[in-house]
Amino acid sequence: MSHDDFPTDDPAVVTCGLPYANGDLHIGHLRTYVGGDVYRRALERLGQETAFVSGSDMHGTPVAVNAEQEGVSPEEFALDWHERYAATFPKFNVEFDNYGHTHDETNTELTQELVRDLDEAGHLYEKEIMVAYDPVDDQYLPDRYVEGTCPYCGAHARGDECDEGCQRHLEPGEVEDPESTITGNPAEYRERTHKFFEVSAFAEYLSDFLDRLEGTSNARNQPREWIEQGLQDWCITRDMDWGVEYPGENPQDLVLYVWVDAPIEYIASTKQYSERVGAEAFDWEAAWKEGASDAHPEGGEIVHVIGRDIIQHHTIFWPAMLEATGHAEPRAVMASGFVTLGGKGFSTSRDRAVWADEYLDEGFHPDPLRYYLATNGGFQQDVDFSWEKFRDRVNTELVGTVGNFLYRSLLFAHRNYDDAPISDATSEEVDERIEEAIADFEAAVNDYSVRAVGDAVTDLARFGNEYIQRSEPWNLVDDDPEEAEQVIHDCVAIAKAIAVLFEPIAPEKAERLWDQLGEDGSVHEATVEAAREGPDGDLAEPTELFEQIEDERVEALNEKLEARVADAEADGESSEDGGESGENGDESDDTEDTADDTDTDTDDMTDIEPLSDDRISFDDFQELDIRIGRIEEAEGIEGADDLLKLGVDLGAETRTIVAGLKQLHDVDELPGTKVVVLANMEKAELFGVESNGMVLAAGEEADLLTTYEDAGPGTKVK
Ligand code: 2FM
Ligand code: ZN
Repeated sequence: MSHDDFPTDDPAVVTCGLPYANGDLHIGHLRTYVGGDVYRRALERLGQETAFVSGSDMHGTPVAVNAEQEGVSPEEFALDWHERYAATFPKFNVEFDNYGHTHDETNTELTQELVRDLDEAGHLYEKEIMVAYDPVDDQYLPDRYVEGTCPYCGAHARGDECDEGCQRHLEPGEVEDPESTITGNPAEYRERTHKFFEVSAFAEYLSDFLDRLEGTSNARNQPREWIEQGLQDWCITRDMDWGVEYPGENPQDLVLYVWVDAPIEYIASTKQYSERVGAEAFDWEAAWKEGASDAHPEGGEIVHVIGRDIIQHHTIFWPAMLEATGHAEPRAVMASGFVTLGGKGFSTSRDRAVWADEYLDEGFHPDPLRYYLATNGGFQQDVDFSWEKFRDRVNTELVGTVGNFLYRSLLFAHRNYDDAPISDATSEEVDERIEEAIADFEAAVNDYSVRAVGDAVTDLARFGNEYIQRSEPWNLVDDDPEEAEQVIHDCVAIAKAIAVLFEPIAPEKAERLWDQLGEDGSVHEATVEAAREGPDGDLAEPTELFEQIEDERVEALNEKLEARVADAEADGESSEDGGESGENGDESDDTEDTADDTDTDTDDMTDIEPLSDDRISFDDFQELDIRIGRIEEAEGIEGADDLLKLGVDLGAETRTIVAGLKQLHDVDELPGTKVVVLANMEKAELFGVESNGMVLAAGEEADLLTTYEDAGPGTKVK
């Protein structure tokens, strides 16, 4: 691997976090897969050799618990879901080079080999630990078979993670007041011998690794705190039947913890791809193994695209395993935020989600959703989905900006010129603007910004609209036909650049545009060089690429969604009244769920809270000392996953203010940002830091309030 700008000479592997094979996919899941697919396609547009792989996560308690509740074997259950996922991703134009699963032979063998290597290198040891056990049911309760209280923050937690609180990974025996999730029985702790991987021995390596790691800032910053707090060794075996068998001496019939064999599927899936296409086409060993290839001694460019809830696994456990066994270290981790509805997490059990199949069944094309998911907020920010916002982005940007430019220019060209009007060259102005778009696109890839990939195209289309409008070729056709040809040639050149640069975001639409432009081959093979070349095809009669979404449609969709959520809520309440054993298995398959989704009501589905009827007097308002500030410094706070300690210049003094911005903004980019501050907010102590003021921000994504012009620090807001 290099840390050179893409494209590099080393083979790249882009991976997407493996979905547990245990339930329907919703658009929250799709955000990560679309993000990965966009990123991979964008790398290829730059000419980077890339494999794009993933697979289904078949093992572990998230699958076993749900299978048990359905009354089927985990294997049958997981294979069924695996097949559905393999069929669903391509419907969203998420085209993996290989989509395997963790239960297949390739992964089982590679996992056992890698664990043997860890053992032989002296990185594994045995330890007696306390394991939750249901004495009534006479079974051990690993991970999601048990729930209780998080020992770190006191939140209700699963056996293996504090999913509702501090998000920490929890080791067996850590959860307090354990109860079986299957029977509700109180559990007891029993002593068992388990295998441990000495992650703590890799603290120094991991700390250096994080200094090198690229990707989104959440993935680079959060793990630093975990290392500073002291790394624990990691229990890698479980008392279960379902999983990859521990490969060494194994008197207790233990299987490996699901988080051991899951990431190894990244390697196994790449291997399967190589075996299918041949090592000359893609050499998995050159990409994954240090020293396997003279040309790529440090391996390939490994980029992991994941949800933000699994950062710890990808930046601590996994790189330690790779380092310990002579594999290439990841170059980048891109961790996406969640998708919420009305500001609250998706909930599988409450049917509070927009399902992947449902979106397609409504007759929508996949590419507008890809555009929305890729560009609605930074990749690491949580984004709130609503059909209104979806409609607005589609109508304004896809139809109004991109589609409008393409249709008006290609129609005009087709009607007036038959073949593409080919003047010799693109004008200097347009040539430079296309170069600028390519530079933006390249910068977006190297910044790991999926959103900026999309913005590079919409900005170019915006320019195209402005250019055709100001040049008025329709008035030039008679008076100055040469100039008219030049303008139309320029517009077709812009359209061709849009086709190439939009391929990652909207692959099917870009291919249709490519055909309309009469270009040879497929846009999926074109690189940014093609965007520079100018048009050389015969134009076909254009059709509009994107379809407007009508308001009535949105109303109908909202009604459906609200009714569905209300029904599911009512069902949930009545089944809870009936004393059923709860719905943890159902909830737990959903990494997007958040703690606060229990008090949902249908009002949450509207985007805007009702305006308050309670008025305040002008005097009340004047009591608020609101000032303009400028963020000077921003840093994390030990033990707080969401908070930042900001140094904010308020003119007269620089204040320390604690704000919940860490997950929602690129921390490195905050210094220099002007903000609006409630300066006379009462002081508060948060995680040992005194906060002296409040930074104002809008909505769930903490959109920072700033100034329109140049009011400086200390200026009063009135
Ligand atoms: O959290 C999850 O959904 C896991 N199935 C992700 C596994 S990603 C990887 F490491 F394989
Ligand atoms: Zn916790």
